[in-house]
Amino acid sequence: MKWLTFCAAALACLAAAHAQSLTGRWAGNGSTTDNGMEIVVALNQGADGRITGYVLGRSQDTITDGKIEDGKITLEAERPGRNGDTQKVTYTAVIEDGKLKLTMPMFGGGRGPGRGPAGTPGAAPGTPPAAAAAPGRSPGGGRGPQVFELARVSTEVPKPLPPKPAAVSLSFPAPVKSNGLAKTPPMGWNSWNKFSNRVSDQMVREMADAFVKSGMRDAGYIYVNIDDTWEGAHRDAHGNITTNNKFPDMKALADYVHSKGLKLGIYSSPGPKTCAGYEGSYQHEEQDAKTYASWGIDYLKYDWCSASQVYDNTQATMAAAYAKMGEALEHSGRNIVYSLCQYGNLDVGEWGARVSGNLWRTTGDIRDTWASMSHIGFDLQPGREKYAGTGHWNDPDMLEIGNGGMTEIEYQTHMSLWSLLAAPLLAGNDLRDMKPEVAAILMNKEVIAIDQDSPGKQGVRVAKDGDQEVWAKPLADGGYAVGLFNRGDAASKITAKWSDIGVTGTRKLRDLWKHQDLGSMSDSFSAEVPSHGVALVKIAK
Ligand code: GLA
Repeated sequence: MKWLTFCAAALACLAAAHAQSLTGRWAGNGSTTDNGMEIVVALNQGADGRITGYVLGRSQDTITDGKIEDGKITLEAERPGRNGDTQKVTYTAVIEDGKLKLTMPMFGGGRGPGRGPAGTPGAAPGTPPAAAAAPGRSPGGGRGPQVFELARVSTEVPKPLPPKPAAVSLSFPAPVKSNGLAKTPPMGWNSWNKFSNRVSDQMVREMADAFVKSGMRDAGYIYVNIDDTWEGAHRDAHGNITTNNKFPDMKALADYVHSKGLKLGIYSSPGPKTCAGYEGSYQHEEQDAKTYASWGIDYLKYDWCSASQVYDNTQATMAAAYAKMGEALEHSGRNIVYSLCQYGNLDVGEWGARVSGNLWRTTGDIRDTWASMSHIGFDLQPGREKYAGTGHWNDPDMLEIGNGGMTEIEYQTHMSLWSLLAAPLLAGNDLRDMKPEVAAILMNKEVIAIDQDSPGKQGVRVAKDGDQEVWAKPLADGGYAVGLFNRGDAASKITAKWSDIGVTGTRKLRDLWKHQDLGSMSDSFSAEVPSHGVALVKIAK
Protein backbone atom coordinates (compact mmCIF):
# COMPACT_ATOMS: atom_id res chain seq x y z
CA MET A 1 0.00 0.00 0.00
CA LYS A 2 2.81 2.32 1.01
CA TRP A 3 4.53 1.42 -2.18
CA LEU A 4 1.42 2.27 -4.21
CA THR A 5 1.06 5.66 -2.49
CA PHE A 6 4.72 6.39 -3.19
CA CYS A 7 4.28 5.44 -6.87
CA ALA A 8 1.19 7.64 -7.24
CA ALA A 9 2.97 10.59 -5.63
CA ALA A 10 6.03 10.08 -7.80
CA LEU A 11 3.91 9.92 -10.95
CA ALA A 12 2.06 13.07 -9.95
CA CYS A 13 5.39 14.80 -9.38
CA LEU A 14 6.69 13.66 -12.73
CA ALA A 15 3.54 14.80 -14.44
CA ALA A 16 3.73 18.16 -12.70
CA ALA A 17 7.37 18.48 -13.59
CA HIS A 18 6.59 17.67 -17.20
CA ALA A 19 3.71 20.15 -17.29
CA GLN A 20 6.04 22.88 -16.05
CA SER A 21 9.02 21.88 -18.11
CA LEU A 22 9.93 24.51 -20.65
CA THR A 23 11.89 22.07 -22.75
CA GLY A 24 11.17 22.28 -26.46
CA ARG A 25 10.94 24.83 -29.23
CA TRP A 26 8.86 27.98 -29.09
CA ALA A 27 8.23 30.09 -32.17
CA GLY A 28 6.45 33.31 -33.07
CA ASN A 29 6.60 36.60 -34.86
CA GLY A 30 9.58 38.79 -33.99
CA SER A 31 8.35 42.11 -35.29
CA THR A 32 5.63 44.44 -34.15
CA THR A 33 5.00 45.82 -37.62
CA ASP A 34 5.01 42.88 -40.01
CA ASN A 35 5.32 39.13 -40.32
CA GLY A 36 8.83 39.31 -41.79
CA MET A 37 10.78 37.92 -38.90
CA GLU A 38 10.45 34.72 -36.91
CA ILE A 39 11.84 34.18 -33.43
CA VAL A 40 12.60 30.64 -32.34
CA VAL A 41 13.51 29.87 -28.75
CA ALA A 42 14.92 26.42 -28.01
CA LEU A 43 14.97 25.53 -24.34
CA ASN A 44 16.30 22.58 -22.44
CA GLN A 45 15.32 22.47 -18.80
CA GLY A 46 17.38 20.03 -16.75
CA ALA A 47 16.23 17.98 -13.76
CA ASP A 48 17.66 20.68 -11.48
CA GLY A 49 15.47 23.28 -13.22
CA ARG A 50 18.41 24.95 -14.98
CA ILE A 51 17.64 26.09 -18.50
CA THR A 52 20.00 26.23 -21.46
CA GLY A 53 19.34 26.62 -25.18
CA TYR A 54 19.33 29.44 -27.70
CA VAL A 55 17.30 32.22 -29.27
CA LEU A 56 17.25 32.63 -33.04
CA GLY A 57 15.89 35.92 -34.28
CA ARG A 58 17.57 39.18 -34.98
CA SER A 59 20.74 37.46 -33.83
CA GLN A 60 21.72 34.04 -32.63
CA ASP A 61 21.98 34.13 -28.85
CA THR A 62 23.14 31.21 -26.71
CA ILE A 63 21.33 30.77 -23.41
CA THR A 64 24.03 29.89 -20.91
CA ASP A 65 21.99 29.85 -17.75
CA GLY A 66 18.28 30.15 -17.12
CA LYS A 67 15.91 29.55 -14.26
CA ILE A 68 12.26 29.84 -13.37
CA GLU A 69 11.31 31.32 -10.00
CA ASP A 70 7.77 32.18 -8.91
CA GLY A 71 6.66 31.79 -12.49
CA LYS A 72 9.24 34.29 -13.75
CA ILE A 73 11.74 32.96 -16.26
CA THR A 74 15.18 34.54 -16.53
CA LEU A 75 17.48 33.57 -19.37
CA GLU A 76 21.09 34.76 -19.35
CA ALA A 77 22.42 34.70 -22.88
CA GLU A 78 25.45 35.53 -24.97
CA ARG A 79 25.05 37.46 -28.20
CA PRO A 80 27.74 37.69 -30.87
CA GLY A 81 29.19 41.20 -30.61
CA ARG A 82 30.16 43.46 -33.45
CA ASN A 83 33.88 42.88 -33.28
CA GLY A 84 33.96 39.15 -32.76
CA ASP A 85 33.35 39.82 -29.05
CA THR A 86 30.38 38.61 -27.00
CA GLN A 87 27.68 40.67 -25.32
CA LYS A 88 25.79 39.45 -22.28
CA VAL A 89 22.03 39.92 -22.55
CA THR A 90 19.18 38.89 -20.26
CA TYR A 91 15.80 37.74 -21.47
CA THR A 92 12.85 37.47 -19.16
CA ALA A 93 9.68 35.57 -19.88
CA VAL A 94 6.50 34.23 -18.37
CA ILE A 95 4.15 31.47 -19.46
CA GLU A 96 0.60 32.69 -20.00
CA ASP A 97 -2.16 30.58 -21.54
CA GLY A 98 0.45 28.10 -22.68
CA LYS A 99 2.39 30.81 -24.55
CA LEU A 100 5.92 31.95 -23.80
CA LYS A 101 5.82 35.72 -23.45
CA LEU A 102 9.41 36.70 -24.08
CA THR A 103 10.81 40.12 -23.31
CA MET A 104 13.49 40.85 -25.86
CA PRO A 105 16.45 42.81 -24.51
CA MET A 106 17.32 46.01 -26.36
CA PHE A 107 19.59 45.61 -29.32
CA GLY A 108 22.90 47.35 -29.58
CA GLY A 109 23.22 48.08 -25.89
CA GLY A 110 23.98 51.71 -26.62
CA ARG A 111 26.59 52.91 -29.00
CA GLY A 112 28.95 50.11 -29.61
CA PRO A 113 32.42 50.59 -30.92
CA GLY A 114 32.46 51.45 -34.57
CA ARG A 115 29.37 53.55 -34.23
CA GLY A 116 29.78 56.51 -31.94
CA PRO A 117 27.60 59.49 -32.61
CA ALA A 118 28.42 59.27 -36.25
CA GLY A 119 30.52 56.27 -36.88
CA THR A 120 34.14 56.01 -36.03
CA PRO A 121 36.82 56.33 -38.63
CA GLY A 122 38.92 53.63 -37.05
CA ALA A 123 36.05 51.18 -36.70
CA ALA A 124 37.01 47.55 -36.71
CA PRO A 125 36.78 45.95 -40.13
CA GLY A 126 33.30 44.82 -40.93
CA THR A 127 31.82 46.57 -37.97
CA PRO A 128 28.10 47.01 -38.52
CA PRO A 129 26.60 50.06 -36.92
CA ALA A 130 24.23 49.47 -34.05
CA ALA A 131 21.34 50.75 -36.09
CA ALA A 132 18.78 49.22 -33.85
CA ALA A 133 20.12 51.15 -30.92
CA ALA A 134 19.48 54.53 -32.48
CA PRO A 135 16.80 56.30 -30.51
CA GLY A 136 13.45 55.86 -32.15
CA ARG A 137 14.88 53.52 -34.75
CA SER A 138 14.57 50.18 -33.05
CA PRO A 139 13.44 47.78 -35.76
CA GLY A 140 11.26 46.22 -33.11
CA GLY A 141 9.22 49.35 -33.50
CA GLY A 142 9.61 50.89 -30.09
CA ARG A 143 12.12 52.52 -27.87
CA GLY A 144 12.37 49.94 -25.14
CA PRO A 145 12.41 46.19 -24.72
CA GLN A 146 9.53 44.40 -26.39
CA VAL A 147 7.42 41.40 -25.57
CA PHE A 148 6.83 38.68 -28.15
CA GLU A 149 4.35 35.86 -27.79
CA LEU A 150 5.69 32.47 -28.82
CA ALA A 151 3.75 29.24 -29.19
CA ARG A 152 5.22 25.87 -28.35
CA VAL A 153 6.03 23.98 -31.52
CA SER A 154 7.72 20.96 -29.94
CA THR A 155 8.42 19.45 -26.55
CA GLU A 156 11.50 17.56 -27.67
CA VAL A 157 14.90 18.32 -26.24
CA PRO A 158 16.31 20.72 -28.86
CA LYS A 159 19.38 19.69 -30.79
CA PRO A 160 22.37 21.91 -30.08
CA LEU A 161 23.16 24.54 -32.67
CA PRO A 162 25.60 23.32 -35.28
CA PRO A 163 29.12 24.65 -34.70
CA LYS A 164 29.78 27.94 -36.47
CA PRO A 165 31.45 27.25 -39.82
CA ALA A 166 34.87 28.75 -40.47
CA ALA A 167 34.77 32.27 -41.87
CA VAL A 168 34.64 32.36 -45.67
CA SER A 169 37.71 33.90 -47.34
CA LEU A 170 37.61 35.17 -50.91
CA SER A 171 40.29 36.57 -53.15
CA PHE A 172 40.31 40.14 -54.33
CA PRO A 173 37.85 40.31 -57.23
CA ALA A 174 38.48 41.07 -60.87
CA PRO A 175 36.91 44.41 -61.83
CA VAL A 176 33.16 44.31 -62.43
CA LYS A 177 31.98 46.19 -65.50
CA SER A 178 30.76 49.66 -64.60
CA ASN A 179 26.99 50.02 -64.98
CA GLY A 180 27.31 53.56 -66.33
CA LEU A 181 24.68 54.86 -63.89
CA ALA A 182 24.65 57.70 -61.36
CA LYS A 183 26.58 60.13 -63.54
CA THR A 184 25.78 62.71 -60.88
CA PRO A 185 25.21 61.89 -57.19
CA PRO A 186 21.87 60.05 -56.84
CA MET A 187 18.97 62.08 -55.46
CA GLY A 188 15.86 60.71 -53.82
CA TRP A 189 14.41 59.64 -50.50
CA ASN A 190 14.96 56.70 -48.15
CA SER A 191 12.60 55.36 -45.52
CA TRP A 192 15.06 54.53 -42.73
CA ASN A 193 15.97 57.79 -41.01
CA LYS A 194 12.41 58.73 -40.18
CA PHE A 195 10.39 55.53 -40.36
CA SER A 196 12.70 52.55 -39.75
CA ASN A 197 10.42 49.48 -39.69
CA ARG A 198 7.22 51.42 -40.30
CA VAL A 199 7.79 51.67 -44.06
CA SER A 200 5.00 50.04 -46.10
CA ASP A 201 3.57 49.80 -49.60
CA GLN A 202 0.98 52.40 -48.74
CA MET A 203 3.56 54.78 -47.35
CA VAL A 204 5.82 54.41 -50.39
CA ARG A 205 2.89 55.22 -52.68
CA GLU A 206 2.01 58.25 -50.59
CA MET A 207 5.64 59.31 -50.61
CA ALA A 208 5.77 58.97 -54.41
CA ASP A 209 2.69 61.19 -54.64
CA ALA A 210 4.40 63.64 -52.29
CA PHE A 211 7.54 63.70 -54.47
CA VAL A 212 5.38 65.04 -57.25
CA LYS A 213 3.14 67.34 -55.21
CA SER A 214 5.93 68.93 -53.19
CA GLY A 215 8.08 69.62 -56.24
CA MET A 216 10.83 67.26 -55.04
CA ARG A 217 10.68 65.24 -58.25
CA ASP A 218 11.02 68.31 -60.40
CA ALA A 219 13.91 69.50 -58.24
CA GLY A 220 15.75 66.28 -59.21
CA TYR A 221 14.85 63.82 -56.44
CA ILE A 222 14.01 60.62 -58.32
CA TYR A 223 14.73 57.50 -56.23
CA VAL A 224 12.10 56.35 -53.75
CA ASN A 225 14.12 53.93 -51.64
CA ILE A 226 12.71 51.27 -49.35
CA ASP A 227 15.24 50.48 -46.64
CA ASP A 228 15.28 47.49 -44.29
CA THR A 229 12.21 45.53 -43.08
CA TRP A 230 10.41 44.80 -46.36
CA GLU A 231 11.57 41.17 -46.47
CA GLY A 232 9.50 38.06 -45.74
CA ALA A 233 10.44 35.69 -42.91
CA HIS A 234 11.15 32.82 -45.29
CA ARG A 235 12.25 32.34 -48.89
CA ASP A 236 9.80 30.40 -51.05
CA ALA A 237 10.26 26.74 -51.97
CA HIS A 238 12.57 27.77 -54.83
CA GLY A 239 14.71 29.96 -52.62
CA ASN A 240 13.22 33.21 -53.94
CA ILE A 241 13.17 36.15 -51.58
CA THR A 242 9.66 37.09 -50.49
CA THR A 243 8.11 40.25 -49.10
CA ASN A 244 6.33 40.55 -45.78
CA ASN A 245 2.73 41.65 -45.33
CA LYS A 246 3.63 45.35 -45.50
CA PHE A 247 4.51 44.87 -49.19
CA PRO A 248 1.83 42.70 -50.83
CA ASP A 249 3.03 43.24 -54.42
CA MET A 250 6.41 44.78 -55.07
CA LYS A 251 5.97 44.74 -58.86
CA ALA A 252 2.71 46.66 -58.60
CA LEU A 253 4.39 49.13 -56.27
CA ALA A 254 7.26 49.61 -58.72
CA ASP A 255 4.73 50.17 -61.52
CA TYR A 256 3.03 52.81 -59.43
CA VAL A 257 6.28 54.59 -58.57
CA HIS A 258 7.37 54.46 -62.22
CA SER A 259 4.03 55.89 -63.32
CA LYS A 260 4.93 59.02 -61.35
CA GLY A 261 8.20 59.43 -63.25
CA LEU A 262 10.17 58.11 -60.28
CA LYS A 263 12.37 55.09 -59.59
CA LEU A 264 12.17 52.48 -56.86
CA GLY A 265 15.00 51.38 -54.59
CA ILE A 266 15.34 48.42 -52.26
CA TYR A 267 17.72 47.14 -49.58
CA SER A 268 19.54 43.90 -48.75
CA SER A 269 22.73 42.50 -47.23
CA PRO A 270 25.60 40.31 -48.44
CA GLY A 271 25.12 38.44 -45.16
CA PRO A 272 22.38 35.99 -44.19
CA LYS A 273 20.51 38.72 -42.27
CA THR A 274 20.07 42.45 -42.67
CA CYS A 275 20.91 44.88 -39.90
CA ALA A 276 17.34 44.69 -38.60
CA GLY A 277 17.50 40.87 -38.70
CA TYR A 278 15.52 40.22 -41.89
CA GLU A 279 16.47 37.89 -44.71
CA GLY A 280 19.71 38.86 -46.51
CA SER A 281 21.10 37.79 -49.89
CA TYR A 282 23.92 35.50 -48.74
CA GLN A 283 24.26 32.66 -51.28
CA HIS A 284 21.26 34.01 -53.22
CA GLU A 285 22.94 36.95 -54.92
CA GLU A 286 22.13 36.12 -58.56
CA GLN A 287 18.63 35.00 -57.67
CA ASP A 288 17.85 38.11 -55.66
CA ALA A 289 19.23 40.44 -58.34
CA LYS A 290 16.96 38.73 -60.88
CA THR A 291 14.00 39.05 -58.52
CA TYR A 292 14.66 42.76 -58.05
CA ALA A 293 14.91 43.19 -61.82
CA SER A 294 11.64 41.31 -62.33
CA TRP A 295 9.94 43.61 -59.83
CA GLY A 296 11.30 46.71 -61.60
CA ILE A 297 13.77 47.80 -58.93
CA ASP A 298 16.17 50.59 -59.94
CA TYR A 299 18.48 50.95 -56.93
CA LEU A 300 19.94 48.56 -54.36
CA LYS A 301 21.47 49.51 -51.02
CA TYR A 302 23.59 46.56 -49.92
CA ASP A 303 24.39 46.62 -46.21
CA TRP A 304 27.24 44.54 -44.73
CA CYS A 305 25.76 43.77 -41.30
CA SER A 306 25.66 40.03 -40.61
CA ALA A 307 28.11 39.38 -43.44
CA SER A 308 30.75 39.92 -40.75
CA GLN A 309 29.56 36.67 -39.19
CA VAL A 310 30.10 34.54 -42.30
CA TYR A 311 33.01 36.21 -44.09
CA ASP A 312 36.47 36.94 -42.80
CA ASN A 313 36.90 40.66 -42.36
CA THR A 314 39.58 41.32 -44.93
CA GLN A 315 39.45 43.82 -47.73
CA ALA A 316 39.76 41.10 -50.38
CA THR A 317 36.83 39.14 -49.02
CA MET A 318 34.63 42.16 -48.51
CA ALA A 319 35.36 43.47 -52.00
CA ALA A 320 34.64 40.03 -53.44
CA ALA A 321 31.35 39.76 -51.56
CA TYR A 322 30.32 43.13 -52.99
CA ALA A 323 31.60 42.15 -56.44
CA LYS A 324 29.27 39.11 -56.35
CA MET A 325 26.23 41.34 -56.15
CA GLY A 326 27.79 43.82 -58.59
CA GLU A 327 28.03 41.04 -61.16
CA ALA A 328 24.59 39.74 -60.29
CA LEU A 329 23.10 43.18 -60.91
CA GLU A 330 24.94 43.39 -64.19
CA HIS A 331 23.46 40.03 -65.23
CA SER A 332 20.00 40.98 -64.02
CA GLY A 333 19.07 42.66 -67.27
CA ARG A 334 18.09 45.90 -65.57
CA ASN A 335 19.87 49.16 -64.76
CA ILE A 336 20.18 49.12 -60.99
CA VAL A 337 22.19 51.72 -59.10
CA TYR A 338 24.46 49.93 -56.65
CA SER A 339 24.89 51.51 -53.21
CA LEU A 340 27.48 49.94 -50.92
CA CYS A 341 26.90 50.26 -47.20
CA GLN A 342 29.78 48.98 -45.11
CA TYR A 343 30.35 52.10 -43.04
CA GLY A 344 33.53 53.17 -44.85
CA ASN A 345 35.62 50.28 -43.57
CA LEU A 346 38.63 48.66 -45.25
CA ASP A 347 39.39 51.62 -47.54
CA VAL A 348 36.21 51.20 -49.55
CA GLY A 349 37.15 54.17 -51.74
CA GLU A 350 40.02 52.10 -53.11
CA TRP A 351 37.75 49.35 -54.42
CA GLY A 352 34.13 50.55 -54.35
CA ALA A 353 34.09 51.55 -58.03
CA ARG A 354 35.92 48.35 -59.00
CA VAL A 355 32.98 46.25 -57.79
CA SER A 356 30.66 48.57 -59.79
CA GLY A 357 29.53 50.50 -56.74
CA ASN A 358 27.95 53.82 -57.64
CA LEU A 359 28.20 55.07 -54.08
CA TRP A 360 29.56 53.82 -50.81
CA ARG A 361 28.96 54.89 -47.26
CA THR A 362 31.95 56.48 -45.60
CA THR A 363 30.87 56.21 -41.95
CA GLY A 364 28.48 54.63 -39.47
CA ASP A 365 24.88 55.80 -39.30
CA ILE A 366 23.98 59.46 -39.22
CA ARG A 367 21.57 60.68 -36.58
CA ASP A 368 19.41 63.73 -36.47
CA THR A 369 21.72 65.74 -34.23
CA TRP A 370 24.21 68.51 -34.82
CA ALA A 371 26.96 66.39 -33.20
CA SER A 372 26.36 63.45 -35.52
CA MET A 373 25.87 65.38 -38.74
CA SER A 374 28.76 67.79 -38.20
CA HIS A 375 31.17 65.06 -37.13
CA ILE A 376 30.35 62.97 -40.20
CA GLY A 377 30.34 65.89 -42.60
CA PHE A 378 33.32 67.92 -41.43
CA ASP A 379 35.59 65.44 -39.67
CA LEU A 380 35.19 62.14 -41.49
CA GLN A 381 35.18 63.21 -45.14
CA PRO A 382 38.51 64.99 -45.75
CA GLY A 383 40.88 62.80 -47.75
CA ARG A 384 38.14 60.87 -49.52
CA GLU A 385 37.70 63.38 -52.36
CA LYS A 386 40.11 61.47 -54.59
CA TYR A 387 37.68 58.58 -54.81
CA ALA A 388 34.62 60.54 -55.99
CA GLY A 389 33.78 61.17 -59.61
CA THR A 390 31.29 60.53 -62.36
CA GLY A 391 29.40 57.33 -61.51
CA HIS A 392 31.03 56.65 -58.14
CA TRP A 393 30.46 58.77 -55.06
CA ASN A 394 31.37 58.95 -51.40
CA ASP A 395 28.20 58.66 -49.34
CA PRO A 396 28.29 60.45 -45.96
CA ASP A 397 24.83 58.93 -45.30
CA MET A 398 21.30 60.12 -45.89
CA LEU A 399 19.91 63.53 -45.05
CA GLU A 400 18.19 64.27 -41.75
CA ILE A 401 16.80 67.60 -42.95
CA GLY A 402 13.29 68.12 -41.60
CA ASN A 403 13.37 65.36 -39.00
CA GLY A 404 13.28 67.84 -36.14
CA GLY A 405 16.52 67.23 -34.27
CA MET A 406 18.39 70.22 -35.69
CA THR A 407 17.63 73.88 -36.28
CA GLU A 408 16.85 75.36 -39.66
CA ILE A 409 20.34 76.89 -39.71
CA GLU A 410 21.90 73.52 -38.95
CA TYR A 411 19.88 71.88 -41.73
CA GLN A 412 21.15 74.56 -44.14
CA THR A 413 24.66 73.62 -43.08
CA HIS A 414 23.80 69.94 -43.65
CA MET A 415 22.51 70.63 -47.17
CA SER A 416 25.40 72.97 -48.03
CA LEU A 417 28.09 70.60 -46.81
CA TRP A 418 26.57 67.55 -48.51
CA SER A 419 26.37 69.51 -51.77
CA LEU A 420 29.97 70.68 -51.53
CA LEU A 421 30.89 67.03 -50.90
CA ALA A 422 29.05 65.97 -54.09
CA ALA A 423 27.19 63.58 -51.80
CA PRO A 424 24.11 61.58 -52.75
CA LEU A 425 21.09 63.63 -51.63
CA LEU A 426 18.62 61.17 -50.13
CA ALA A 427 16.03 62.99 -48.09
CA GLY A 428 15.08 61.13 -44.92
CA ASN A 429 12.04 63.07 -43.76
CA ASP A 430 8.30 62.76 -44.26
CA LEU A 431 7.69 64.39 -47.64
CA ARG A 432 3.94 64.19 -47.13
CA ASP A 433 4.14 66.73 -44.40
CA MET A 434 6.99 69.11 -45.11
CA LYS A 435 7.17 72.55 -43.54
CA PRO A 436 7.87 75.28 -46.10
CA GLU A 437 11.26 76.04 -44.55
CA VAL A 438 12.27 72.37 -44.88
CA ALA A 439 11.06 72.27 -48.48
CA ALA A 440 13.03 75.44 -49.18
CA ILE A 441 16.23 73.82 -47.90
CA LEU A 442 15.80 70.51 -49.74
CA MET A 443 14.70 72.21 -52.94
CA ASN A 444 17.13 75.09 -53.10
CA LYS A 445 17.94 74.70 -56.78
CA GLU A 446 21.12 76.74 -56.61
CA VAL A 447 22.50 74.47 -53.90
CA ILE A 448 21.36 71.31 -55.67
CA ALA A 449 23.20 72.55 -58.77
CA ILE A 450 26.43 72.58 -56.76
CA ASP A 451 25.87 68.98 -55.72
CA GLN A 452 24.97 67.88 -59.23
CA ASP A 453 27.64 69.87 -61.03
CA SER A 454 29.03 67.67 -63.76
CA PRO A 455 31.64 66.32 -64.17
CA GLY A 456 31.52 66.02 -60.43
CA LYS A 457 34.37 67.04 -58.21
CA GLN A 458 34.09 66.58 -54.47
CA GLY A 459 34.81 69.75 -52.51
CA VAL A 460 37.58 69.97 -49.94
CA ARG A 461 38.32 71.90 -46.78
CA VAL A 462 40.70 74.68 -47.79
CA ALA A 463 41.03 76.43 -44.43
CA LYS A 464 40.32 75.70 -40.80
CA ASP A 465 40.73 78.00 -37.84
CA GLY A 466 39.23 76.53 -34.71
CA ASP A 467 35.50 76.30 -35.30
CA GLN A 468 35.70 78.17 -38.59
CA GLU A 469 36.03 76.13 -41.75
CA VAL A 470 36.11 77.10 -45.41
CA TRP A 471 35.27 74.46 -47.97
CA ALA A 472 35.50 74.84 -51.74
CA LYS A 473 34.28 72.81 -54.68
CA PRO A 474 35.58 73.47 -58.19
CA LEU A 475 32.73 73.73 -60.69
CA ALA A 476 32.61 72.68 -64.31
CA ASP A 477 32.18 76.29 -65.50
CA GLY A 478 35.48 77.33 -63.92
CA GLY A 479 33.83 78.87 -60.86
CA TYR A 480 33.87 77.65 -57.27
CA ALA A 481 31.24 76.93 -54.69
CA VAL A 482 32.54 78.05 -51.31
CA GLY A 483 31.08 77.38 -47.89
CA LEU A 484 32.08 79.46 -44.87
CA PHE A 485 31.07 77.34 -41.91
CA ASN A 486 30.84 78.27 -38.25
CA ARG A 487 30.91 75.19 -36.02
CA GLY A 488 31.15 77.33 -32.90
CA ASP A 489 28.53 78.32 -30.36
CA ALA A 490 28.55 82.05 -31.17
CA ALA A 491 28.17 84.01 -34.38
CA SER A 492 31.49 84.95 -35.94
CA LYS A 493 32.98 86.66 -38.94
CA ILE A 494 34.59 84.21 -41.35
CA THR A 495 36.86 85.08 -44.25
CA ALA A 496 37.44 82.94 -47.33
CA LYS A 497 40.74 83.87 -48.93
CA TRP A 498 41.22 83.53 -52.68
CA SER A 499 44.71 82.18 -52.01
CA ASP A 500 43.25 79.28 -49.98
CA ILE A 501 40.74 78.50 -52.70
CA GLY A 502 43.24 78.85 -55.52
CA VAL A 503 41.69 81.76 -57.41
CA THR A 504 42.99 85.21 -58.19
CA GLY A 505 41.70 88.61 -59.22
CA THR A 506 38.32 90.23 -58.93
CA ARG A 507 35.40 87.80 -58.94
CA LYS A 508 31.63 88.08 -58.99
CA LEU A 509 29.92 86.41 -56.07
CA ARG A 510 26.43 85.11 -55.47
CA ASP A 511 24.90 84.02 -52.16
CA LEU A 512 23.16 80.69 -52.75
CA TRP A 513 20.91 80.81 -49.68
CA LYS A 514 19.88 84.45 -49.99
CA HIS A 515 19.67 84.09 -53.78
CA GLN A 516 21.43 87.42 -54.14
CA ASP A 517 24.30 88.69 -56.24
CA LEU A 518 26.89 90.16 -53.93
CA GLY A 519 28.86 92.17 -56.47
CA SER A 520 32.56 91.70 -57.20
CA MET A 521 35.29 91.05 -54.66
CA SER A 522 39.05 90.84 -54.76
CA ASP A 523 41.31 88.62 -52.67
CA SER A 524 38.72 87.46 -50.17
CA PHE A 525 35.12 87.34 -49.05
CA SER A 526 33.95 87.75 -45.47
CA ALA A 527 30.59 87.05 -43.88
CA GLU A 528 29.05 87.13 -40.44
CA VAL A 529 27.95 83.53 -39.91
CA PRO A 530 25.57 82.43 -37.14
CA SER A 531 26.47 79.64 -34.75
CA HIS A 532 26.35 76.27 -36.61
CA GLY A 533 25.53 78.17 -39.80
CA VAL A 534 26.99 78.70 -43.22
CA ALA A 535 27.43 81.34 -45.87
CA LEU A 536 27.40 79.51 -49.19
CA VAL A 537 28.55 81.46 -52.19
CA LYS A 538 29.43 80.85 -55.78
CA ILE A 539 32.56 82.55 -57.01
CA ALA A 540 32.28 83.09 -60.75
CA LYS A 541 35.05 82.12 -63.12
C1 GLA B 1 22.31 49.98 -41.12
C2 GLA B 1 22.48 51.07 -42.16
C3 GLA B 1 21.31 52.03 -42.06
C4 GLA B 1 20.00 51.26 -42.27
C5 GLA B 1 19.90 50.13 -41.26
C6 GLA B 1 18.72 49.24 -41.54
O1 GLA B 1 22.41 50.49 -39.84
O2 GLA B 1 23.70 51.73 -41.99
O3 GLA B 1 21.43 53.06 -43.01
O4 GLA B 1 19.97 50.77 -43.57
O5 GLA B 1 21.06 49.32 -41.27
O6 GLA B 1 18.65 48.15 -40.67
